[in-house]
Amino acid sequence: MSVRPLVIGNWKMNLDFVEALHLTQQLGVLLKNHPVEHTDVVIAPPFVDLRSVGSILDAERLPVALGAQHVNPQENGAHTGEVSVSMLQRLGVEWVIVGHSERRTNYAMSDEVVAATLRAVVRAGLHAVLCVGEALSVREADEHESFVAAQLRSALGGLEERFHPLVSVAYEPLWAIGTGVNATAEQVSQMSGLVRGVLAELLAGAPPVLYGGSVNAENAGTLVRSSDLDGFLVGGASLKAESFCAILHACDDCYAIKR
Ligand code: 13P
Repeated sequence: MSVRPLVIGNWKMNLDFVEALHLTQQLGVLLKNHPVEHTDVVIAPPFVDLRSVGSILDAERLPVALGAQHVNPQENGAHTGEVSVSMLQRLGVEWVIVGHSERRTNYAMSDEVVAATLRAVVRAGLHAVLCVGEALSVREADEHESFVAAQLRSALGGLEERFHPLVSVAYEPLWAIGTGVNATAEQVSQMSGLVRGVLAELLAGAPPVLYGGSVNAENAGTLVRSSDLDGFLVGGASLKAESFCAILHACDDCYAIKR
């Protein structure tokens, strides 16, 4: 762990605005009683919760940034059901998850659209969290390294250098997402090494590399201590304030020891 840890809670399509307020308030209480010192924290609620969650973060001055789970790369126009970067910016969003596997797989988000979305996000000055990761069949065919390298090259190749500091990468193998079967520390280390190697060809600096896939309060400490990681992208375990805070503190403690 070389840079400050970064932990992002991806709430996916969970929690209406009242439930979202409740979780944000609970998170606020836990973080006030037991603050994290070194870790950057982001929560990415559904679009419809952004305003209410953002108002609690502001009112309580919580050290938590607001993220979005997706965005359309177009500026405006006839894109029924979509949301633009400037709309998110007006709500105080600073981070956007780009190319999550659920968008790629279930909503036909192509590599080209992932690359365009990433550019729309960073050109607006927001942080982009690029998601990469292989399906089980790809891993079983022993093609996971070349698959993930190709995803990185496709999304980040040719990106203007001034935008490089706005990029983070989350390695999220599809077989570990929501399954309760996390990648082992060894698998995570191997893939974070691969990701860092490809990023060194593509970007200046050392972007944060996160892992996502069944991260929880029990496995976060082992994963962050024994893999070369800068943090986590957390799904299910970010929906409970206690488990999300335990993951934050696992990263915080690890950074305090290692730096
Ligand atoms: P889970 O933590 O629920 O496996 O989800 C991971 C994920 O997809 C985060 O973006």
